[in-house]
Amino acid sequence: MNIQQKDKSHVWHPFTQHHTAKEHLEIVKAYGVYLEDASGKKYIDANSSWWVNTHGHGHPHIAKAISEQFATMDHIVFAGVTHPKAVELADRITSILPPHLDKVFFSDNGSTAVEIALKMVMQYFYNKGEKRNRFLAMNGSYHGDTFGAMSVGQRGYFNKPFEPFFFDVDYIDFPNGENEQVILGQAKKLFSSGEFAGLIIEPLVQGAAGMRMYSAEFLDQLTALAHENGVLVIFDEVMTGFGRTGKMFAMDYCQNKPDLVALSKGLTAGVMALGLTIASNKIYDAFLSDDIGKALLHGHSFTANPIACAVACANLDIFEKENTWESIAAICEWNAEFANDLAKIECVENIRQQGTILAFEVKTGEGNSYFSDVKTKAYQFFLEKGILLRPLGNVIFVNAPYCIEKKEYDEVRRVVLEFLSSLME
Ligand SMILES: Cc1ncc(COP(=O)(O)O)c(C=O)c1O
Repeated sequence: MNIQQKDKSHVWHPFTQHHTAKEHLEIVKAYGVYLEDASGKKYIDANSSWWVNTHGHGHPHIAKAISEQFATMDHIVFAGVTHPKAVELADRITSILPPHLDKVFFSDNGSTAVEIALKMVMQYFYNKGEKRNRFLAMNGSYHGDTFGAMSVGQRGYFNKPFEPFFFDVDYIDFPNGENEQVILGQAKKLFSSGEFAGLIIEPLVQGAAGMRMYSAEFLDQLTALAHENGVLVIFDEVMTGFGRTGKMFAMDYCQNKPDLVALSKGLTAGVMALGLTIASNKIYDAFLSDDIGKALLHGHSFTANPIACAVACANLDIFEKENTWESIAAICEWNAEFANDLAKIECVENIRQQGTILAFEVKTGEGNSYFSDVKTKAYQFFLEKGILLRPLGNVIFVNAPYCIEKKEYDEVRRVVLEFLSSLME
């Protein structure tokens, strides 16, 4: 049996209807901005492998961090034990976040980082003896696939079978520039009930909803409202963290900061599975007691895996020591130029950019549906031309690793424009 046959026999892929799925693209190598398939064909990884990769594949500094850490210590229990790389990472991450975000809890991915943030909010009020058990989230949000994360995410097609098991959540509309005061009014009314424990939000960019973008001014006002009403604020920076929005974190555009932040994806340069939930000292203090039941009784086997922590530290080294910020600034400029080209194309609408993310919609007359036909057509077209881009419905977006060079970016731009011309033939 070849790989495809064995895959078909034994592998259950994410977000895949195997009854109708075609053969999977078989990638055997990854280097820099490129992926290579079994036949030797190269693809530009224009969505950074599910939005995780920061500095390109196979970066030598990351490789060195992995091999040195493996040779020193592979993995150990993290309950009752600590180790240098976890402490270094916690120290370095808290030094680039607002000072009150000071306590780092380790887990394995974006969903668990969110799940832990939700549990911290719930238990914060439990420990204080305050009955607040509602959350506010935003329509269209995606926070992961574990139960808490699904509960606060957009309800619908993706999680219908599980809906009876979710906890109660209220949703505000997505701010579109015109409805912001109405939404803030709704949030104010809801918060004034005194029932709300937390607000969870993807700051500035909703990723899975189709890279939908909104203003820092709106987010500042919403955060302020939550705080005025004693509601804790979680920023889910799983996608927006580590330079994606043009700054290290989306919250760096905001005056008002969250009480908790969830990080993953770019945290390890997109190489290892690691999640962090960083809480304020105020939240942490509410867990201190002589009563063990007031502690956060939560943990995972691979909590603070030393190799993952070493890679996350190496990721930060690259941000500090290489020309990463120059590259990010260049991508922001290229995106702006590309946006100008796109604005001239008839079948394109709602062009938006936040830092290294550029997104637009292909007019279909059917709205922005995940199951839009454009997605399938575009995905195949791009693959044939050597670009790996996974549109979200009729939303095509580019968020490449920061090591992408101008000629590679221009190739992505050329192929996207060619696809759009093919639609108009
Ligand atoms: C904003 C956001 N939160 C959470 C998650 C879940 O992360 P993971 O897939 O690592 O569980 C994602 C994944 O795309 C995300 O975009």
